[in-house]
Amino acid sequence: MSTPTRTAFAFALAAFLAGAMHTAGAADGGDPVRGQHLAYTCLGCHAIEGYKNVYPTYSVPKLGGQHAEYIATALRGYRSGDRSHGTMHAHAASLTDQEIADIAAYLGGDAIKPAETPPAATPPEAAQVCVACHGVDGVGVLPEYPTLAGQHVDYLERALEEYKSGARKNPIMAGFVTMLGPDDIKTLATYYGSQRPSLETVKKRTSRFSAR
Ligand code: HEC
Ligand code: HEC
Repeated sequence: MSTPTRTAFAFALAAFLAGAMHTAGAADGGDPVRGQHLAYTCLGCHAIEGYKNVYPTYSVPKLGGQHAEYIATALRGYRSGDRSHGTMHAHAASLTDQEIADIAAYLGGDAIKPAETPPAATPPEAAQVCVACHGVDGVGVLPEYPTLAGQHVDYLERALEEYKSGARKNPIMAGFVTMLGPDDIKTLATYYGSQRPSLETVKKRTSRFSAR
């Protein structure tokens, strides 16, 4: 390789790596203290045990233990309309990328970690394709993959139906739900919803960051 070619190549590689790192760390740089203030109104729904969405009725998702990166992705999805939900769109519409990172750093601060030794549970046959990303125990193997363990079963069903109907426009999940029938959706939601360690309803931890 001539020197200019090599320089151009090294530059392209560096630019590529910087881009890749930027994507992987999209929720990095969030400030959990600012996030706690910004998330105050969110707790009115997400910190209430057993709280339900109405029309249609299904449980408000648990966020405690969820990956910060996924929380940020979800909020950007509501902001852009890739995920359809009136109230969540209203809450996300005015958030900047920095505010989303701050909220994700606060809510996702105690994310459940994937187990070092694979759990012994035997997932149902329909979950064979899911475990590569969501784990046998429902803990997302990468921060971009949501943890499903212990999530409300009715919410998981709703999510899978929305990928199927196109109300949620994630191309990865759209591909995986096409082959699922209503019985598979029920089986998968029940399986992942019963895994432990479990996601939890957010606690109102008013003093969590006050010492900093
Ligand atoms: C009025 C009740 C309500 C309020 C207030 C609210 N949410 Fe939500 N949130 C919901 C419901 C219901 C869903 C599920 C929507 C769906 O079906 O996609 C949801 C979904 C989410 C999700 C996606 C979870 C997942 O597993 O995909 C995140 C993240 C989230 N909310 C964060 C927030 C944040 C941050 C705020 C405040 C800025 C907030 N919510 C305010 C009711 C609420
Ligand atoms: C290649 C990786 C991959 C595979 C395989 C996969 N998923 Fe996902 N899954 C994702 C990603 C990425 C998301 C987040 C998509 C988004 O932003 O809406 C997701 C989201 C979900 C959600 C929504 C979670 C929430 O909190 O809203 C459910 C439920 C889910 N997947 C179940 C499954 C099931 C069941 C299977 C097997 C049939 C499966 N997934 C296969 C990557 C995967």
